[in-house]
Amino acid sequence: MEQTLSIIKPDAVAKGVIGKILDRFESNGLRIAATKKVQLSRQDAEAFYAVHKARPFFNDLVDFMVSGPVVISVLEGENAVLKNRDLMGATNPKEAAAGTIRADFAENIDANAVHGSDSLENAAIEIAFFFSGREIS
Ligand code: CMP
Repeated sequence: MEQTLSIIKPDAVAKGVIGKILDRFESNGLRIAATKKVQLSRQDAEAFYAVHKARPFFNDLVDFMVSGPVVISVLEGENAVLKNRDLMGATNPKEAAAGTIRADFAENIDANAVHGSDSLENAAIEIAFFFSGREIS
C-alpha cells in the first residue's frame, strides 16, 4: 500500500469538477484517506513548490495556485503514486492521453487541473506538508 498527495487546482475547483475528479480516484482503486478544501497563502505555495524556485514558470505557478481554493487529498492504494500519475495524464494537457483527468478537465500547463506527487519519497514530504497524522485515516 502506498500513499500519495493530490491537489485539485484552482481551475478545476472553479469549474465545479471536484466530485468528478475524486470519483476518478475512487473508481480506480485509490481510497481517499484525507481531504480538505484550502485557500493557499503565497507562503504556502512558495514553500510547497520550493523545488521549482529557479524555474522560469515559478512566479506564474505560485500566482495561479493562490488564485482560488484547492482541494488537497491523501490517496491510498496499491502503486498509488504511479496510478495517480496515470490517471492525471501528462503535465501539459495538450500531451495528456485521452480519458485522463488533464485531457478532460485542464486548460493549459499552469491551469492543469491536478497535482500529484512524482515519487514515493516526495509523497511522504508533500503529505507531511499539508496533513497531520490525526487527519489521515
Ligand atoms: P505540478 O505537477 O503541480 O508541478 C509543477 C507545476 O508547474 C506543474 O504541475 C505545472 O502546472 C507547472 N508548470 C508550468 N510550466 C511548466 C513546465 N514548463 N514544466 C513543468 N511544469 C510546469
